[in-house]
Amino acid sequence: MPTSKRLNVAVVGATGLVGQQLLQILAQRKFPVASVTAFASERSVGARVPFNGEHLTLRHLDETVFKGIDIVMFAAGADVSLLYAPAAAEAGALVIDKSSAWRMKANVPLVVPEVNPEDIRDNEGIIASPNCVTIPLTMVLEPLRARFGVKRVVVSSYQAASGAGRALMDELEDQTQAIAAGKEPSVAATSHQLAYNVIPGGWKPDADGYNEEEMKLVHETRKILHDAELPIAATCVRVPVPIGHSESVLIETNEKASADDARLVLGSAPGVLVEDDPHAKIYPTPHHVAGKDEVYVGRIREDLSSSHGLIIWLVSDNLRKGAALNAVQIAERALEMGVI
Ligand SMILES: NC(=O)c1ccc[n+]([C@@H]2O[C@H](COP(=O)([O-])OP(=O)(O)OC[C@H]3O[C@@H](n4cnc5c(N)ncnc54)[C@H](OP(=O)(O)O)[C@@H]3O)[C@@H](O)[C@H]2O)c1
Repeated sequence: MPTSKRLNVAVVGATGLVGQQLLQILAQRKFPVASVTAFASERSVGARVPFNGEHLTLRHLDETVFKGIDIVMFAAGADVSLLYAPAAAEAGALVIDKSSAWRMKANVPLVVPEVNPEDIRDNEGIIASPNCVTIPLTMVLEPLRARFGVKRVVVSSYQAASGAGRALMDELEDQTQAIAAGKEPSVAATSHQLAYNVIPGGWKPDADGYNEEEMKLVHETRKILHDAELPIAATCVRVPVPIGHSESVLIETNEKASADDARLVLGSAPGVLVEDDPHAKIYPTPHHVAGKDEVYVGRIREDLSSSHGLIIWLVSDNLRKGAALNAVQIAERALEMGVI
């Protein structure tokens, strides 16, 4: 990214799964930092985290620490963002928030840089990065919508343990080892045993039977695509995979699209890679996609149950494009636009 400007960056939640990726990606993409300050909870203050061949000492977080900081990336949960993001914005920093705290607020842009980068200009100090299943879905819907129009979407997710943070990722590993050793696995981080299982829940349910994660996917997708009425329904499922969220998506289009048409459109969509040759056993899996930056798409088929439907399978790394990479790309775009 050619720029002479160097920025003072802060990462809140720097010991977490997303925070660690943020630090790695800032270094990998050579984001122009003048300094990086790392914050975590009180129990981590004084410990150190690696950054670009050096170590950063974790600092205590309060409302006064943001003076002189240009960008604060929050990856410490919604409560922490609600508490401290306004103070950071007030101090003149641009906040890029990974939590759900600000995503649906009217004066907060919710941005996927490949889809709605211009929304960055509408920020009043806080920009939200969407949920880790919403980001890849919108990256696939937007190019299809631009070419064929999108009438209706039905999506089922297969979400990795790391999507719920370090606690569930570690618990999956512990449970797998316990079962292999013939012991009873312990369950604390979600509603049921995840190892050797599939959980169609674990998020807060609402009165209609949907849950918080499913409704985030609905509302956030509509906001990013600027289509408040888009008919969309979701079923979110936790699977015993460490990293990499998968989604099976039925997309009804206005104009009829063949599977080949969709392959062509998605093949040139920014940030999307098509891997689709089932006869050669080529389709994306989370194991293969973990650590990669793109949204991988395969199993592209015409829907047998409707005249204008496409069915696709997509996979993305929830910690990278689903979280940290998207946040860093927002910062890069904001810098290019002169917003910072
Ligand atoms: N995981 C994903 O795939 C994903 C995707 C999209 C968005 N997100 C969002 O990103 C955020 C972080 O998720 P994660 O998966 O990285 O969680 P995580 O692995 O559980 O890490 C949580 C981080 O927050 C810090 N923290 C907790 N309480 C704090 C406090 N009071 N003050 C300062 N720091 C505090 C923790 O520090 P300690 O180590 O000191 O406890 C840790 O660094 C969440 O809002 C999550 O919803 C996650």
